[in-house]
Amino acid sequence: MIHFEQKSDRDLFTDALEFAEKQVRNVIDKHPDFYPMYSKDGKWKHDGPKWTHWCDGFFPGQMWLFRRFNADRRREKEAKYWMEQAIRYSEPLEPRQMDRDVHDLGFIFMSTYHRWYKVTGDKRLNDVLIQAGKTMALRFKDKGQYLRSFVSDDSLFIDIMMNVGIIFYAAHETGDRTLREIAMRHTLTTQRVLVRGDGSTAHEGLFDLETGEFLRQSTHQGYRGDSCWSRGLAWALYGFSTCYEYSRNPHFLRTSEACADFFITHTPDEGVTPWDFNAPGESRDQVDTSASAIAAAGLLRLARLIQDPVKGHFYWSTAVHILRSLCGGYLGKSKGWEGVLKGGVYHIHKDLGVNESVMWGDYFFTEALEHALRTMPE
Ligand code: GLY
Repeated sequence: MIHFEQKSDRDLFTDALEFAEKQVRNVIDKHPDFYPMYSKDGKWKHDGPKWTHWCDGFFPGQMWLFRRFNADRRREKEAKYWMEQAIRYSEPLEPRQMDRDVHDLGFIFMSTYHRWYKVTGDKRLNDVLIQAGKTMALRFKDKGQYLRSFVSDDSLFIDIMMNVGIIFYAAHETGDRTLREIAMRHTLTTQRVLVRGDGSTAHEGLFDLETGEFLRQSTHQGYRGDSCWSRGLAWALYGFSTCYEYSRNPHFLRTSEACADFFITHTPDEGVTPWDFNAPGESRDQVDTSASAIAAAGLLRLARLIQDPVKGHFYWSTAVHILRSLCGGYLGKSKGWEGVLKGGVYHIHKDLGVNESVMWGDYFFTEALEHALRTMPE
């Protein structure tokens, strides 16, 4: 009888993390001080447009995760290498604490300066985080009660749920009640206008600037205004859990759960989502592995926060199932491929990074693998 040896989840995830380390090391050696965004034919460096300048924190963020992975295993030399690289790539981001052009300061600083601060306790790093939170709060529109997206004053994006956390953080660190109020109001508005009754989400909400009245749901990267863009839903799942952690408002936890339940129920059995849950016809065959990686990372957080142990275990084991699928079929192992995960989508309508590696997919995949390994029973 032929006996097929199946790898344990621990071995599968450890191998995937080590593969990710190798890919990132190669990029550092091949393109020093370059920050990848999305690949073209598997290559990170190309002249394609960025659309918006939002993801420079993810590459150093991956390095901070590799540092912890190696430090936990007492691999001193590797941990030292990753700490040096992580600092080298995090430091140039510091001026972005004042950046008012993007709504992404949480992405940029919580993946880098926050991890750095947790390792060293250097107050100077915390000052950068606090300033970034204050800068984010300047996006608040009193009429409408939301943080405006990078696109225009009347626009609110679901993605901002991943960035409002840095305002809660700055409020917590400074005791500033106005900052906390802004973060709360933005989260409540997003919950009201972008999360639907079935737990699905819209990408964008548009407001009347004169009255602050909510007008309608819309999208840039999803299929339609009334569809559910899978990455947007993953941002909401993760983001509402973060806001619950900062605010302890149980409604935010319930919203995160509702988004998780929609995500899980509508994901095919093999565990990887289409780029939009309502994508029609053949377009539905295009997966977005980054949405799956973000959802896995979010489900692991939710599993940690939730009181009910049965539901908590369900979310944890679903995250592990998603990671198993990503490791099984989507690692960028073909010759010359520079990213970690294949099958990501950046902007399908602009034809940017379609069926490619995307930096945020690699980052949240790394985060989820590291988290799953840390919480896996021996
Ligand atoms: N702009 C954030 C995203 O593509 O998800």
